[in-house]
Amino acid sequence: MNKLTINHELLISRAIEARERAYAAYSKYKVGAAVLTEDGRIFTGCNVENAVYPLTLCAERVAIFKAVSEGATQITAMAVATANGGTPCGSCRQVMREFGDPSMPVYIADVRGNYRETTLGGLLPDSFSVKDLSAE
Ligand code: THU
Repeated sequence: MNKLTINHELLISRAIEARERAYAAYSKYKVGAAVLTEDGRIFTGCNVENAVYPLTLCAERVAIFKAVSEGATQITAMAVATANGGTPCGSCRQVMREFGDPSMPVYIADVRGNYRETTLGGLLPDSFSVKDLSAE
């Protein structure tokens, strides 16, 4: 099967747009994310905070859960946008690993569209995944 080419500029711009919809009432730190799924769809997410602070959900997980709940099983690229080029938290990295391979490109962007490219494996080396559960 041919691999879909990744339009990373589009993915980044969708993450920047999604960031505008962040509900960051307490931290004021807005985050946007966009995931590309294996079937070529893009799902976006923003952080959604709560007065009960620990209930906050990160932008990355919102985007991934939207994708999975719409039938996607594999993510093939992800873009994350913040004011200052912040990177995904540890919890999000593990959730990304559930649905993405270590070689998956991750674009870390700021609101002006400056970005750097890394991989999921770069963000979460030596990761634990479903493969470890089946290793006897
Ligand atoms: N946040 C994300 O959305 N993604 C991350 O990977 C890091 C943190 C959000 C959670 C909270 O709403 C705000 O940023 C400050 O932690």
